Amino acid sequence: MDEIYSGTYEAALERSAKLEANLIANPGKYRVMTGDRPTGRLHVGHLFGSLQNRVRLHRLGVHTFILIADYQVLTDRDTFENISENIQQLTIDYLAAGIDPEDGKTFIFPHSHVPELNQLLLPFLTLVTNAELDRNPTVKEEVQAAGLSRINAGMYTYPVHQAADILFCKGNVVPVGKDQLPHLELTRTIARRFNERFASKKAVFPEPQPLLSKTPVVLGLDGSQKMSKSRNNAVMLSATADETAGLIKKAKTDSERVITWDPQNRPEVANLLTLISLSTGRDQREIADSIGDGGAGKLKALLAESLNDYLAPHRARRAELEANPDYIRSVLRKGIDEARKFASATLDEVRDVMNMKI
Ligand code: TRP
Repeated sequence: MDEIYSGTYEAALERSAKLEANLIANPGKYRVMTGDRPTGRLHVGHLFGSLQNRVRLHRLGVHTFILIADYQVLTDRDTFENISENIQQLTIDYLAAGIDPEDGKTFIFPHSHVPELNQLLLPFLTLVTNAELDRNPTVKEEVQAAGLSRINAGMYTYPVHQAADILFCKGNVVPVGKDQLPHLELTRTIARRFNERFASKKAVFPEPQPLLSKTPVVLGLDGSQKMSKSRNNAVMLSATADETAGLIKKAKTDSERVITWDPQNRPEVANLLTLISLSTGRDQREIADSIGDGGAGKLKALLAESLNDYLAPHRARRAELEANPDYIRSVLRKGIDEARKFASATLDEVRDVMNMKI
């Protein structure tokens, strides 16, 4: 078998920029496939990181599937009590952020409801080796982060499942963060090997391209790590304005009084300035200068005000959607129906080229 290709991050960024330009010029040529695990509600880091990027692509009119990877929750945690609730909440956050499923081009669905997609996992598993799965750096990190002493086979193989998530609809653009690049390379390898082995005359699967977002990683309110609910440093999109102000009051800064834009030496202050900048569109340096010796108190007050203003419409839409669970369910139903249409057609083709027709 040919090797799994893994080029440099810089090369991936460069290819992403080209892809982005093409996407804007020809949205009709692409199908975007993206996904999240339903492990909890979304926070401000998701909104400024991946969510807004998705909304932007969505507004270009690209056909988009947003997949909720509920099976993947079982790979690294024991709890499944909240999966259903998290699926609803995730969908609410997507819609509140501006994803409009009424455009007829955007479909949201949990993968557990699409049997034909899941069935692709079986042939795909025969196209990768144990050694290749062993080497996946993202899986290694996740095993470590979750403190797992024993790895279940679902964890080990979920990148192959993810290939089924992407290829069932022949998605060709996948907006991802850096940590997902190894998975995408595996997906491309599986597509290539499948075509070479079973469909040498006419390829069944495209080799999907990653689209890396330009947004800076938003750190948590501790200023030292990526924002994340499990690190207790996140502002949830569902938080109230008062809760948000309370959290920001406790954010970490440093002992220097005068506020300056110095991301190298003052990461905590810089992160709060970046959050103000993302909420207002103002430049970080200019914000720092306007606060000056107003110090951390003024910085935090300004952040609380800016972020709460920025999130107010999102939160209002959230509350409306939360009061209408039937609508959320109907959005997911429609997403499942559309996904099954694509997955059935693909599975049919797959059976055909594998000589499994009866
Ligand atoms: N593994 C991804 C994550 O942890 C979630 C995911 C599952 C996904 N299937 C996908 C992302 C398909 C993009 C495309 O965030």
